[in-house]
Amino acid sequence: MSRRRQIYEGKAKILYEGPEPGTIIQYFKDDATAFNAQKKGTINGKGVINNRISEFVFTRLAQIGIPTHFLRRLNMREQLVRQVEIIPIEVVVRNVAAGSLSKRLGIEEGEQLPHTLIEYCYKDDALGDPLVGEEHIACFGWASNEEMQDIASMAIRINDFLVGMFAAINIRLVDFKLEFGRMWDGDYARVILADEISPDGCRLWDMNTGEKLDKDRFRRDLGGEEEAYQEVARRLGLLQNDDGSAGEVFDMSAHRGKLRNTKPKK
Ligand code: TMP
Ligand code: ASP
Repeated sequence: MSRRRQIYEGKAKILYEGPEPGTIIQYFKDDATAFNAQKKGTINGKGVINNRISEFVFTRLAQIGIPTHFLRRLNMREQLVRQVEIIPIEVVVRNVAAGSLSKRLGIEEGEQLPHTLIEYCYKDDALGDPLVGEEHIACFGWASNEEMQDIASMAIRINDFLVGMFAAINIRLVDFKLEFGRMWDGDYARVILADEISPDGCRLWDMNTGEKLDKDRFRRDLGGEEEAYQEVARRLGLLQNDDGSAGEVFDMSAHRGKLRNTKPKK
């Protein structure tokens, strides 16, 4: 393997310098963390699946006019993306109460929200990514008002599209996290969608059983995380080898019963 410069190692991905200026290679690891990395583990094959799922989702989003950093998938675990300056805000889009929203406000998990809710967290591991308001973002200059307008309108369009995309494969999109970056063109910066969209940063529930098909299986020690990620990929039609043949690595048949045995949560 040729040597290349590592730019950054995160919890689930490694970034390397890309082949051309302004490009980056995103390498997807199997490492999984939760609760600000207090809980650590691995989900076998997760990196391969997230690379494929994220490629699929970003490609679809580009087709509906969302500007993204995605250029192309390079191999099983890597994709080529545009280099951006990450805006230090995690944009959480919620359709259904779950996770920290339920905890914070005492709303039962699974309750449909009257309308889509967008929350912002300041990206700072040392502070545990605290929830912030638009006032804080403006006050501390993390993003301009104009950028925040672009981010909010893209987040809503992305949500509308993804809700439909997942509903078509019998999955309820409960919530998800987005990250955006600035792409500089001279003095002008354009905001584009960055990072990844995968079961690591989404809550995905089977519409019939309520079964969790996302990282909550790991966070909450439910087991079956590998099978859950594979199931999402399978329903999206992504379980194939690069040559188009059926992928043994992703063969779900041995596991299919397992997920059904886990307790469905409404
Ligand atoms: P939360 O309910 O824990 O705030 O999570 C909301 C959504 O954001 C959920 O789909 C998981 C995702 N998320 C991340 O991708 N990264 C994070 O660090 C956190 C806290 C949540
Ligand atoms: N990825 C985050 C972490 O490690 C949190 C999460 O997804 O729950 O801490």
